[in-house]
Amino acid sequence: MYNIEKLDNKGRGICYVNNKITFVPNTLPGEVVELEIIKEAKKYNEAKVRKYIKKSEKRIEGLCPYFGICGGCELLHSSYKDTLKYKKEKLESIINKYAHVKKDIEIISSDNELNYRNKITLKVVNSKYGYYEDNTHFLVQIDHCLLAEEAINSFIKDINYLNIKNGEVTIKSNYNKELLIWIKSKDMVNPDIDYLKNRHKIVGIVLNDKSLVGDTLFVEMINKMLFQVSYDSFFQVNRSVCSKLFKLVEEEIGVDDTILDLYCGVGTLGIVATKKAKKAYGIEIVKNAILNAITNAKINKRDNIYYMLGDVSKNIAKIKDDIDTIIVDPPRAGLDSITKQTIISFKAKKIIYVSCDPMTLARDLLDLQEVYDIKTIKGLDMFPYTHHVETVSVLCRKTIEK
Ligand SMILES: C[S@@+](CC[C@H](N)C(=O)[O-])C[C@H]1O[C@@H](n2cnc3c(N)ncnc32)[C@H](O)[C@@H]1O
Repeated sequence: MYNIEKLDNKGRGICYVNNKITFVPNTLPGEVVELEIIKEAKKYNEAKVRKYIKKSEKRIEGLCPYFGICGGCELLHSSYKDTLKYKKEKLESIINKYAHVKKDIEIISSDNELNYRNKITLKVVNSKYGYYEDNTHFLVQIDHCLLAEEAINSFIKDINYLNIKNGEVTIKSNYNKELLIWIKSKDMVNPDIDYLKNRHKIVGIVLNDKSLVGDTLFVEMINKMLFQVSYDSFFQVNRSVCSKLFKLVEEEIGVDDTILDLYCGVGTLGIVATKKAKKAYGIEIVKNAILNAITNAKINKRDNIYYMLGDVSKNIAKIKDDIDTIIVDPPRAGLDSITKQTIISFKAKKIIYVSCDPMTLARDLLDLQEVYDIKTIKGLDMFPYTHHVETVSVLCRKTIEK
């Protein structure tokens, strides 16, 4: 029998088996469990619960039949309020431990606690659709996902009509409940288009990188701004929290600022910033995303944003303008050292760092503190009931240089 002491950064319970730290999903602090060790590494074990001896009175059960199996939402056994508390404590502890900064970090909640995701990706194995069980290639067949928007769940009921044998399928939905479907498969795929189009607002179906039906992009709307998004372009998954994120960024922009929007995706943050700012430069590595960004600047009546296609680390030094504010919104890996050094060399007065990974954020904040003070860090609950948390950090250049 083992006592679960607390949750780790991935939402798993922590206990000690012969003094070795052991991670146990689907447990809560205060619970007592019998375990089965499923992985023994040098410094830790991974285990699953064989039997609950004592359950926490805070445990919530029965919300999703796939909870604990599909590995999608690690915190669905907690109340929403408790998940926000967990995220606040996790963020504060990571930032304190790895960036050496003590901050009281507010977590901004999601208006939709469930059915918030505008994009999901399902695996297809022998014409069965589902998620892989955590860390395995074992398919958990699903017929709905509590995190996905209603338009996506309605489509999943008819997903067999896509007639995919093996591969994966990404389903995106927009503000207007339209769907953009992206299939990756080596096989021939022959969807029953008439049936699917009769029942769902399908804008397009893309097979690998070619249109099978209709368009390869659709339009999203956030805070009354419209954005074209291609099948392979990034877009924030939670529309209501994305709206709050845009407002946080906008508040930090000065009139007459020149902005650098690094990892700009379809151009959203640069377009938000140039509501006030004088000019912006955006850099992004995905071709369709930068093409979307160019169109999005036009749709939103901006003629003062300049885009570059390519790797940020290889292109950032090509910008020769004086930069006031640098917005960075990198993938989970955070900023590489060349990019960090070049960012510092711009001597911008402000950096707005949007991150989806607190660990790489903390590492980068530690490096940037050589020249920048951390003014604020705010958490945004972009991914309710998962262990993930989005952040917006505002850094101001120190007045005395080292
Ligand atoms: C977290 S998203 C942010 C996108 C955008 N700021 C938004 O909010 O929609 C990260 C973006 O960085 C792009 N990306 C990833 N690695 C990159 C690199 N080395 N150079 C440039 N862009 C990169 C991805 O394609 C993706 O669009």
